[in-house]
Formats: sequence, C-alpha cells, structure tokens
Amino acid sequence: MTSSATVTLSPEALAAAPAISHVGVIGAGLMGNGIAHVCALAGLSVVLQDIKPEALAKAMETISRNMDRQIKAGTITQEEKAPALARITTSTELAAMAPADMVIEAVTEKEEVKRQVYKALIPHLKPSCLLASNTSSISITRLGASTDRPEKFIGMHFMNPVPVMKLVEIIRGIATDEPTFAAAVSLAERLNKTVVVAEDFPAFIVNRILVPMINEAVYALYEGVASVASIDTAMKLGANHRMGPLELADFIGLDTCLSIMQVLYEGLADSKYRPCPLLVKYVEAGWLGRKTGRGFYDYSHTPPKPTR
Ligand code: NAI
Repeated sequence: MTSSATVTLSPEALAAAPAISHVGVIGAGLMGNGIAHVCALAGLSVVLQDIKPEALAKAMETISRNMDRQIKAGTITQEEKAPALARITTSTELAAMAPADMVIEAVTEKEEVKRQVYKALIPHLKPSCLLASNTSSISITRLGASTDRPEKFIGMHFMNPVPVMKLVEIIRGIATDEPTFAAAVSLAERLNKTVVVAEDFPAFIVNRILVPMINEAVYALYEGVASVASIDTAMKLGANHRMGPLELADFIGLDTCLSIMQVLYEGLADSKYRPCPLLVKYVEAGWLGRKTGRGFYDYSHTPPKPTR
C-alpha cells in the first residue's frame, strides 16, 4: 500500500468530481467553527449545525474574532469579512443540511455519537451529497459503512486552528469512489490547504505520531519525572517545538487526546498505546484543557498557571 505525498488530479478526475458550492458543517466546536470560517472565506455557502444553540453563538463570535485577527495580520482584507460572515447560517436542525453538496461532520470524537448523527442526517441529504468526517482517528471505512453512501464518504482531517494550519489529511475508506476523492482534494485546495493522503489506519499520520508523544509527556508527569513547566520547557527548548506537549494537549482538548489514544490502543492492539491513567483522571474530572478553563494549566491566571 502506498500513499503519495503530493496529489495531482488528472483533468478527467477533476471533471468527474461533483461541484461543491454549498457546505454543511455539523458540530460547532473548536474544529467546526474553523472549517465554517475557511469555507465562507473561500466563497462557499455554509450552514453550521450544532445541537447546542450556545455552541453556535460562540462559534459565530469566534469566527468574527478570528477574522479580525486575520485582518490585523494582513492575511484577509476588511472588505472580505462581512460577506464571508453573511455566507454562514446556523441551525440546531439537521434539516438545514438539505441544500448541501458536501457535509463535513466535526462532532465529538466518539464513534457512537458520529453514527447517531449520520443516522439522523441521512434522510435530509440530497442523494448526491458527499459526506466527510473530520475524525482524528476513527476508521473511515467503518464510519462510511454505517451510512447509506460509503462510496461518497471520505475523511477530511483538518488541523487546529483551521484558519492557520495549512494541512488537510485526506483518507479514503475502502469503498470511497474516485469522484468523491477528487472533490475532497479540490475542496481542500480551494481552501488553500496542502493535502496529504493517508491510508485508513487508526489516527492516520499526524495523530499516530503526535498523540503518543503527548501521552508519553503525561506519563513523564505521572511518574514524577518532571513538572508541567519543566516538561513543556524541555520540549520547546530541547526539541525546538513551538508548544510544549502538555500545553498542546490542553489546546487540542484532553478528551480528544484520550479518545485518540483509545482508538490507537484498541485499533492496533499494542500496549505501547495505553492511555496514561493521569490523562484518564483529568478527563473524568472534566479538566479538558483550554475549552473548560483547566487542564494541565489553569487558564483563570494570566499567564496560565501549571497545575502540577
Ligand atoms: P469540540 O468538543 O470542541 O466540539 C464538538 C461539538 O460537537 C460541540 O459543539 C458539540 O455540541 C457538538 N455535538 C456533539 N454532539 C452533536 C450532535 N449529535 N449533533 C450536532 N453537534 C453535536 O470538539 P472538536 O475539537 O471540535 O472536535 C470535533 C472533531 O474534530 C472530532 O472528531 C475531533 O477528533 C476532530 N479534530 C479535533 C482536533 C482538535 O485539535 N481538537 C483536530 C482535528 C480534528
């Protein structure tokens, strides 16, 4: 099995790719708001859906604030902001996905939750609508098989924060057809992203490598090797990482990190992926990182204060 690092679509493949002008995004959390943001800036109509109305309100505030940052940084103009925001509508109802040419699902990293979303979503979709999951780790083949359209199902794994990070991993399930693949690649390119293709193995490329490193950092903390601040400083200055692993874990969300470790542990059946008990404990405590105000750092302090 091989994956090419660069993707070049043939004119025939491009011609066969369904056109996408209307995108649905399900889940308005960290990733959903970023995906809606970049799609709207690229001129696509976007409907953003979440079961929680407060998540939708927060997402629209975040998108507006992040666009202001981009204006300040000179990556977009002031004139682009209002029309982009106007291209996004929000809804708590899946029926709002009816006009979508492609739906990108970005709900909580739990297979059961995603399956339930697809089951409720499918009756509202056009038969031609493509379905992508932004899952960080779950099998695209298995998720696709739980829908009525495995051939139109694909993994599009955006990175956090979406407006800043250039990469999208694209993962075909075993049944994914070539027009769907070509449409996903074209969409990612339209969003100004660089595509890498990964085979459908647990956690794909980035998280297969990154999250076990984070888990190892939590083990180092758990075993008393060093404090939070020492571990993060060591990896920033010693490995030239932009963020320390524990700071990064808080940024990703500790629940998401734990779910990815569980998928690796179960999917690869190798004890080296055992989630660190301290990571489990933090998630059980509801200390999920930045999004809940506390994780390995306490974000009620400026700068955030290490908790161990
Ligand atoms: P999050 O916890 O910030 O947001 C998830 C959102 O889904 C919440 O707003 C929640 O209300 C909503 N939701 C839950 N059940 C729902 C349902 N039945 N219908 C509609 N909305 C529902 O999570 P985050 O971080 O945005 O992750 C979403 C997906 O993106 C996951 O699959 C995750 O693995 C993936 N991902 C996460 C990255 C990260 O750095 N956090 C990076 C790349 C992918």
